[in-house]
Amino acid sequence: MVQHLYIETVGCQMNMLDSEMVVASLRRRGYEITSDIRQADTILFNTCSVRQHAEDKIYSALGKLRDWKEKHPEKVIGVLGCMAQKDQQQIFRRAPYVDLIVGPGQLQQVPDLIEQVRQGGEQLVAVSRDRQDGSLADIKRSHETFDPLRDPTMRPTPFQAYLRIQIGCDKFCTYCVVPMTRGPEQGRPPSQILQEAQLLADQDCLEITLLGQTVNSYHYQGEEGDWRLADLLEQLQEVEGIRRIKFVTNYPRDMDQRLLEAVRDLPKCSPYLHVPLQSGSDAVLERMRRGYSVDDYRQMMERIDRVLPEAAVASDFIVGFCGETEEEFQLSVEALREFRFKNSFIFKYSERQGTRAMEQLPDDVPYDVKQRRNNLLLEIQNEISEQENRRFVGSSVEVLVEGQSKKSAREGAEGPVIQMVGRTPCDRIVVFDGTRRQVGQILPVTVYDTTPHTLFGSVMTEHVGPELYLLGSS
Ligand code: 5AD
Ligand code: SF4
Repeated sequence: MVQHLYIETVGCQMNMLDSEMVVASLRRRGYEITSDIRQADTILFNTCSVRQHAEDKIYSALGKLRDWKEKHPEKVIGVLGCMAQKDQQQIFRRAPYVDLIVGPGQLQQVPDLIEQVRQGGEQLVAVSRDRQDGSLADIKRSHETFDPLRDPTMRPTPFQAYLRIQIGCDKFCTYCVVPMTRGPEQGRPPSQILQEAQLLADQDCLEITLLGQTVNSYHYQGEEGDWRLADLLEQLQEVEGIRRIKFVTNYPRDMDQRLLEAVRDLPKCSPYLHVPLQSGSDAVLERMRRGYSVDDYRQMMERIDRVLPEAAVASDFIVGFCGETEEEFQLSVEALREFRFKNSFIFKYSERQGTRAMEQLPDDVPYDVKQRRNNLLLEIQNEISEQENRRFVGSSVEVLVEGQSKKSAREGAEGPVIQMVGRTPCDRIVVFDGTRRQVGQILPVTVYDTTPHTLFGSVMTEHVGPELYLLGSS
């Protein structure tokens, strides 16, 4: 009998990619995907631990399954990803009806583990080693991934794909749980990355987004030589069929001249740089152990401006980090105004178990203060995004068409002309009237209106000459 899988994914792009891999491996075993949780035989949650809120969402979703699982004990419920690695057995304490806990470095085992649960009925845990548990080589090996399984049908669109080039993180920012959940930083071997890019191109993928927690710190040193991100980009440029290459997320200190020049000189590289600043205060950056000052960041921005004047730079900010005073917060406001990011993701500090901040610094900014600071930064960023987007009115942008716009899908729009959505190389969202046939094409669109997060345009059609006009009217 065909097994049905329901999978829910929260968190970052890494998690989306991990879910794609898990689904691909289960499809090979004959599973079919269902979007109806009650129809599923196996229910998987791919989880995130970066903030408490993401975990609460999963526990709430699990809570809703409690009674159902009691009535259907044969169904398998699994918790995958960062929360599984961080909390391990503790998840059973809060949700004793969960069958399976699998960390992000062990996902290749998911199909076998589900089988084992089905046969034995026992609860299983597969996680990677902690950062102090054994030699570095053993710890690294326990966090390896199984990337080459690609399934275009699991991606939001088959012609856009994530490609992991780096696993883990060694930066140990004091607030962040990622170095614990995803283990030591490892650059994947270039041959694997290039092979996978070729596979994606063979699947008619046009755009690849290279993923790493600090993607521009990518370093591979081994049998294949010494490789940095710029070297990879040069080789990826040669992969026929791939039209656009992006990479996220960047670490400010490693945004060097050579990388910026590679982005400038390689036509497929998109001038979109997500480089989180996190705070505009040197004292806060120091407490976060980010490893740079605001002035270092400013110099990086000047470098970007010199080499890639048209680049779109995006940032992340954390508000209400341990001990953040009103004056320190004001410095984030000033930085936001100075750097004029294309967009910023703003987060309220959330204390995380196992981090240095949790052990050494009190989470002492009240929630309502965090909320107010969050809203204020968002408001300012929106104003800036709106002004930056305005500059595009009247110009032509190159859009990779992704599909029907969400609004148009919600409204159930039918007919030959519907509202479509796509993205520019610098990651701006563009909405225009078009047809489904345009999905997967790269089209020139003229912008006539904007909001802080969207450009509105019309597709530029080729000039229709008078001879056609005459034919039409005769
Ligand atoms: N609390 C709030 N935000 C966090 N981030 C990482 N850890 C935390 C935390 N404990 C934010 C950072 C990072 C983004 C992915 O999430 O801004 O860049
Ligand atoms: Fe977390 Fe810092 Fe690593 Fe980013 S660079 S994943 S914020 S530890």
